[in-house]
Amino acid sequence: MDKIVIKGGRRLQGAVAVSGSKNAALPILFSSLLTDGVSSYTNVPELRDIDSTRQLLTHLGARVETEGHAMRVDARGLCTHEAPYDLVRKMRASVLALGPLVARLKRARVSLPGGCAIGARPINLHLKALAALGAEIRLEHGYVTATAGRLRGAEITFDTVTVTGTENILMAAVLAEGTTVLRNAAREPEVVALADVLSRMGADISGAGTSEITVRGVAALRPVAAEIIPDRIETGTFMVAAALTGGPVEIVGCEPRHVAAVVDKLREAGADIRVGERSITVTGPPRIAGIDIQTQPYPGFPTDMQAQFMVLMSVADGVGVVAETIFENRFIHVSELRRMGADIRVSGNTATVRGVRRLSGAPVMATDLRASACLVLAGLVAENTTEVQRVYHLDRGYEALEKKFAALGADIVRRR
Ligand code: EPU
Repeated sequence: MDKIVIKGGRRLQGAVAVSGSKNAALPILFSSLLTDGVSSYTNVPELRDIDSTRQLLTHLGARVETEGHAMRVDARGLCTHEAPYDLVRKMRASVLALGPLVARLKRARVSLPGGCAIGARPINLHLKALAALGAEIRLEHGYVTATAGRLRGAEITFDTVTVTGTENILMAAVLAEGTTVLRNAAREPEVVALADVLSRMGADISGAGTSEITVRGVAALRPVAAEIIPDRIETGTFMVAAALTGGPVEIVGCEPRHVAAVVDKLREAGADIRVGERSITVTGPPRIAGIDIQTQPYPGFPTDMQAQFMVLMSVADGVGVVAETIFENRFIHVSELRRMGADIRVSGNTATVRGVRRLSGAPVMATDLRASACLVLAGLVAENTTEVQRVYHLDRGYEALEKKFAALGADIVRRR
C-alpha cells in the first residue's frame, strides 16, 4: 500500500494552484441524473471519491467520459434505481443519488451508509425530508427504499444543519410539484454551487446561501455545462502549510470569500495574509501563537480544517483550545500527533493543545481524510522522517498533494 514519506524542516515557498472542490463536485455530478441528456463539467478534481461517483453513475446506466479534469455524463439511459452496498461503502456521499433518483425515476434503493471514523453520521434528516415531500420510505436489509409518484413541495425544517441533507432535498425538490421551503438549510458554498448549477438547468431556486431556501418545482430540467468551484478545504490546508513552514506561499485559483473564517484564525495565530481577487499569499510568523477554535457550520470555522489547525497549535507558543461541535469523534488524529510529541489533552468534544518547540517524525496513519492531511502537515515541520500510511484516505480528497508540496520545496515522496 502507498505511503507518503516526508523529511521535515523545509520552508515552503512559491505558488500552488488549487483544484476543483470535491464536496461541490460530488452533488453536482449526481445532479446530472435529473436530466434526460448529456451534462459536462470542467475543473473536476482527479480524486478517488470522484472515481467512486463515476462508478456509481455508470452502474445506474449513465455513460461517463473523463478527460483530465473534464467529465461528461450522459444520463439518458438509466437502467437501475439501485445504489448497491459495494459502491456506497466506498463513499458515503453516494447517498446523494437518493434525491435525484426519486425525483427522476420515482424510486430509489440506496444502501444505507455505515458510520465512519469521524462519527455515526446518520441520514435520518435526509429521509424525514424526503418523506415530507411525499416519498414512502422503507428501511430493510441495510437499504433505504424510497418510492413516490411526483414529489410534492413541502415546508421542511432541518433539526440540525446538514450539508448533504440540504443538497439531497434540493435535488429532490426541483422536480416536485409546487413549492418547497427548506429552513435551517446549510449555507456552505458547495450548496450554493449546486443551486447555481440546478438553476442553470432550469430549476427555480432562491435563497441558496441563506438558511431559508425556496424551490418552485418545474416539470423538467435540461443538461448543463458547468465549472466546479475551487476547493476551500484544500486552500485552507495550503494556508496552514505556509503558516507552519514560513512561506510565502501564494495559493492561486482559489475563492478567498469561502475561507474568511480560516483567514481570520490564521491572522490571529500571527500569519501575514494578503488576499487578492483569486489568490491568497500566506507568510508564517517566527513562532505561531496559540489560538482557540470552535467548529461551526458555514460561515463558521469548518470542521474539515480542524485537524490541520491542531498541527499549528501543536507547535505554537502557548495553549490553544479546539472545540469540535459538528462530529462526535473527530479527534482521531490526536493520538497520532501525540506519538509525534504533541501535548494534547481531550475531554469530551474539546482538545487542549500546549505548544511544543518541535514535533518528531514517526510512522503514522489515520482513518479519515482530513486527519491524514493533518499528519502530512505535521510531517512537514517535524524533525527527521515521517511516514504517513493508508494514503488512500488522502487520495479520496486531495489531488496530487505530495506533488504540490514537493513543488513548493518540501522533501516529500510517495512510496509504493
Ligand atoms: N446529521 C444527522 N442526521 C442527518 C444528517 C446529518 O444527525 O440526517 C448530523 C451528522 O451526524 C453530523 C452533523 O449532522 O453530526 C452534520 O453533518 P452533515 O450532514 O452536514 O455532514 P455531511 O453532509 O455528511 C459534509 C461533507 C463533510 C463535512 C460535513 C460538515 C460532503 C460530501 N461531505 O458531510 O466533508 O465534514 O459536511 O461540513 O459534502 C470531508 O470532505 O472530509 C468531509 C467529511
